[in-house]
Amino acid sequence: MKFFIDTANLEQIKEAQDLGVLDGVTTNPSLMAKEGITGQDNIINHYKTICDLVDGDVSAEVISTDFEGMVREGEALAALNPQIVVKLPMIKDGVKACKYFSSKGIKTNVTLVFSVGQALLAAKAGATYVSPFLGRLDDISTDGLNLISEIRTVYDNFNFETQILAASVRNTMHIVNCAKLGSDVMTGPLSAIEGLLKHPLTDSGLAKFLEDYKKGN
Ligand code: G3P
Repeated sequence: MKFFIDTANLEQIKEAQDLGVLDGVTTNPSLMAKEGITGQDNIINHYKTICDLVDGDVSAEVISTDFEGMVREGEALAALNPQIVVKLPMIKDGVKACKYFSSKGIKTNVTLVFSVGQALLAAKAGATYVSPFLGRLDDISTDGLNLISEIRTVYDNFNFETQILAASVRNTMHIVNCAKLGSDVMTGPLSAIEGLLKHPLTDSGLAKFLEDYKKGN
């Protein structure tokens, strides 16, 4: 299972990279704005910086909503670095753009996916990644994990190569449950990744080992 971090915060990206378990980064316009990164030039420079910090895939989202605009933007983004994955919204022109990029061998991430039907379309269009937003479904009393499970079934039925990238992951149990359900990738905050470390028996066990070592030395 690949671990992506869902942030545009460079410190957090560095911290996850230093932990040695990071496979990539996802961003979106809201995450960029949260870090105060505004204006196309600054956004482009930020993507370049992120690519320099990590080894894996870096999703960069287009803001156009028409096919021509998405192609123009996506081609410019993809030219920045081979690590860039063009992130496209799950709308009609986004599906067309996904097909366009996949036929050119440019990696894509189809985002804002909330149903199996949308995930099926993304796979048919050759998406590298599909991003079901599980936290946002949970927010409206709909089981986000169930969507991950249903997409897994459909993709396995037909051996689709599109990777399920569980997005809008909010906590550690989301990560664990996505792993159980066979999600190929998850993207979440650093806090959710670091939550995987925690167990009180690890802490008390280590304290005892160190105490006993000191007794013998
Ligand atoms: O990966 C998608 C993500 O950025 C959305 O997360 O927490 O805003 O629903 P959230």
